[in-house]
Amino acid sequence: MILVTGGAGYIGSHTCIELLQNDFNVLVIDNLMNSSFEALKRVEKITGKSVGFIEGDVRDNALMKQIFSNYQIEAVIHFAGLKAVGESCALPLKYYDNNINSTLVLCQTMEEAGVKKLVFSSSATVYGDPSPETLPLTEQAALSATNPYGRSKLIIEEMLRDLPAADKLNNANPWGIAILRYFNPVGNHKSGTLGEDPSGIPNNLMPFITQTAIGRRKELSVFGDNYDTIDGTGVRDYIHVVDLAKGHVKAVEKLLSNEGINGAQAYNLGTGSGVSVLQMVKAFSEENKVTIAYKIVDRRPGDVTAYYANADKAQKELNWTTELTLNDMVKDSWNWQSKNPNGYQQ
Ligand code: NAD
Ligand code: UFG
Repeated sequence: MILVTGGAGYIGSHTCIELLQNDFNVLVIDNLMNSSFEALKRVEKITGKSVGFIEGDVRDNALMKQIFSNYQIEAVIHFAGLKAVGESCALPLKYYDNNINSTLVLCQTMEEAGVKKLVFSSSATVYGDPSPETLPLTEQAALSATNPYGRSKLIIEEMLRDLPAADKLNNANPWGIAILRYFNPVGNHKSGTLGEDPSGIPNNLMPFITQTAIGRRKELSVFGDNYDTIDGTGVRDYIHVVDLAKGHVKAVEKLLSNEGINGAQAYNLGTGSGVSVLQMVKAFSEENKVTIAYKIVDRRPGDVTAYYANADKAQKELNWTTELTLNDMVKDSWNWQSKNPNGYQQ
């Protein structure tokens, strides 16, 4: 059985589908602070399989101990965490508490239970503000953080790298840890029944585009058109969430294989291609035949110019590569939003 923390969330729910479709049993723990139980009901409907669910907080030591003693957990995927960059600048302690403490409690209970195979949700944000000559980014690129959210991911990565190092000193069973650095996940399951449903005003580009297209927002604000990029707008490596979810299955399979994962290994999960904000707006409008009203506004503080991945390591070691295109991303995003104008709150 695979324990999925934060499994009711956007990436977690898509990963549950891929796990179930690959015949893994899945147990989710989620406190539903940024998600809905409805997402897991839809996962069950899509797959025709059931998902175990415990409503609770990963920081709850006693609950986590109980889970590891009641269930035969083989490996853990740890999605649970907070992810809004702006909020993390205003409420850094909330971010350090949730993101770091949840990982600490999780790893302590895993170690006590002798379950030492972990997949961790990291982010391309750990590359800070990369200079153009470092693109595409490999896992060796310099690490830094520009905000408390990013710093929480960096601190956790450092902590995770200490665990296999300690095994050697203690002659203990080895940890195997896949640190997956996601680039920019977008898109939704092709059924249009499962998707990204941010509460309040979306921070991220794609939900803002889809909510503008459905009429919930008047227009998209494009944050700056004077960056040193193809059209002056920010460039990112957008990855379809289903490809990303499949990357987690590959990482779990590798961890559970005889070969395993040696220590704590970081893997970039991205397509390798950079897309600008205006290119994304154009792709969305053309594929879905809808107009997106937009205006150019000032740069968003803390935004970086451009980054995209070199994902060769994931291809070589996890046998993973992206399959879905930019057109799939914009088509599936619109399919979800147009079928669920108000997200899960129909
Ligand atoms: P999400 O908010 O949709 O999912 C996170 C889930 O974790 C939610 O269901 C939330 O209720 C749950 N949760 C949060 N704290 C918890 C706690 N202490 N105990 C139990 N449950 C808790 O976010 P997502 O986009 O699916 O992101 C998942 C992970 O991937 C996060 O760690 C995030 O930092 C990371 N990540 C996301 C992106 C992105 O752009 N979406 C990019 C890079 C990395
Ligand atoms: N953008 C706009 N208008 C908007 C929203 C975004 O122009 O309303 C632009 C941004 O300026 C940026 C691009 O669209 O150039 C992408 O912005 P997002 O907010 O969608 O994504 P970020 O690259 O800023 O950050 C996201 C997550 C982080 C994560 C990072 C890498 O929010 O948590 O991807 O995975 F760390």
